[in-house]
Amino acid sequence: MASHSGQLKPTVHVVNLVRSFAAKTVLDGVDLDIEEGEFVALLGKSGSGKSTFLRALAGLDHEVEGTGLLETPKRLSVVFQDARLLPWRTVIQNVTLGLPYDAGQEAGRKALAEVGLEGRETAWPNQLSGGEQQRVALARSLVREPALLLADEPFGALDALTRLKMHDLLRDLCARHRPAVLLVTHDVDEAISLADRILVLHEGHFVEDLRIDLAAPRDHSDPHFSEIRTQLLNRLGVNVPGRRAA
Ligand SMILES: Nc1ncnc2c1ncn2[C@@H]1O[C@H](COP(=O)(O)OP(=O)(O)OP(=O)(O)O)[C@@H](O)[C@H]1O
Ligand SMILES: [Mg+2]
Repeated sequence: MASHSGQLKPTVHVVNLVRSFAAKTVLDGVDLDIEEGEFVALLGKSGSGKSTFLRALAGLDHEVEGTGLLETPKRLSVVFQDARLLPWRTVIQNVTLGLPYDAGQEAGRKALAEVGLEGRETAWPNQLSGGEQQRVALARSLVREPALLLADEPFGALDALTRLKMHDLLRDLCARHRPAVLLVTHDVDEAISLADRILVLHEGHFVEDLRIDLAAPRDHSDPHFSEIRTQLLNRLGVNVPGRRAA
């Protein structure tokens, strides 16, 4: 379906979204379109409302007051900072939960192989490392072939090396499955490494919407990478030497 601009209908369409807790307005009339297959990272200070926004997109905020138009695809998956696996189910049972048994087994094994966990199907979650558990959570999301993947600091609890490996994995998985992605992160380099577009949420609004045109693989020492990092850090209120905060 074409929109009035002649473009394809976006996967996510948000108009004038307001979300409040008691007297505090967290999202104050937010607009956003995310195109099919677009990878968007969302930055913002702690408490700026990133999770509130993600939960609204995920339809997980029924108890929260708010108004606005929110259109999202039916096939969406959510990944959180903790893997949230059921400890009394095996790895493959966690991945295929709610899927029809026969089709589920095959798809589940394939998804586990894609995240590098072939052969761990019958392990219990507590037999896996944090990074492995997070890979199971990714497999559980991808097995549903989501049109939209929502991820709230999915690598925030991992050590730096594991996090870098997870970036490579997520990049590969997204190139293969092409979901639209909204990745909430505190990590500016993570955002620049992965995203097509970076938003900064501040005082209820997106104050930055930056397209990232760096070629892959993205080199952290590239001067253009550093410029984008400085611009975003300034937007986040972190004073980078040599530049004044925005
Ligand atoms: N259930 C709730 N009840 C009351 N206030 C809430 C609730 N959930 C969030 N808030 C408030 O809304 C604001 C935004 O919270 P949110 O969790 O969206 O921030 P965030 O940007 O995800 O922060 P962080 O980076 O620390 O995860 C905060 O001030 C928070 O205290
Ligand atoms: Mg949060």
